[in-house]
Amino acid sequence: MAFQLTPEREQELAEIFARYPNKMAACLPLLHLAQEQHGWVSDEVVTWVAEKLDVSTAHVFGVATFYSLYHTHPVGKHHVWVCRTLSCALHGADDIVKHCEKRLGIHVGETTADGAVTLHTAECLASCGTAPMMQIDREYHENLTLAKVDVLLDRLRKS
Ligand code: FES
Repeated sequence: MAFQLTPEREQELAEIFARYPNKMAACLPLLHLAQEQHGWVSDEVVTWVAEKLDVSTAHVFGVATFYSLYHTHPVGKHHVWVCRTLSCALHGADDIVKHCEKRLGIHVGETTADGAVTLHTAECLASCGTAPMMQIDREYHENLTLAKVDVLLDRLRKS
């Protein structure tokens, strides 16, 4: 079935187009808008964006697969991103990743069976001074310990 925006998001679409000098420049915000509604960038979303921008689906797919914040397969309701770059790595990021995998029962890149959580690793999230850190959805959690991670994951599973 073809992808369509809700009436509220159609209004946002018009506002996005008004902000850019040409349609093609609006590719990233359109992908965000569609992903926000659909949960991930499916083939139908790629086709919809391509039609709105008058570009090829190959162009849109190329953009969607270049950026790690676009999901080209179904994902969980919540996203846990564990930073694994130098400062975080030196402060135990590997242990945090392994701990998350064990607690969630999944590996990095996978989603829990109930569809609640997808686990990712991330490159530097610009919070090196408070390493190790993770991002859960849009919130940063810093100076992590395994005990803090447990509290965060418990809270997430209950929400
Ligand atoms: S290295 Fe983890 S936030 Fe920069």
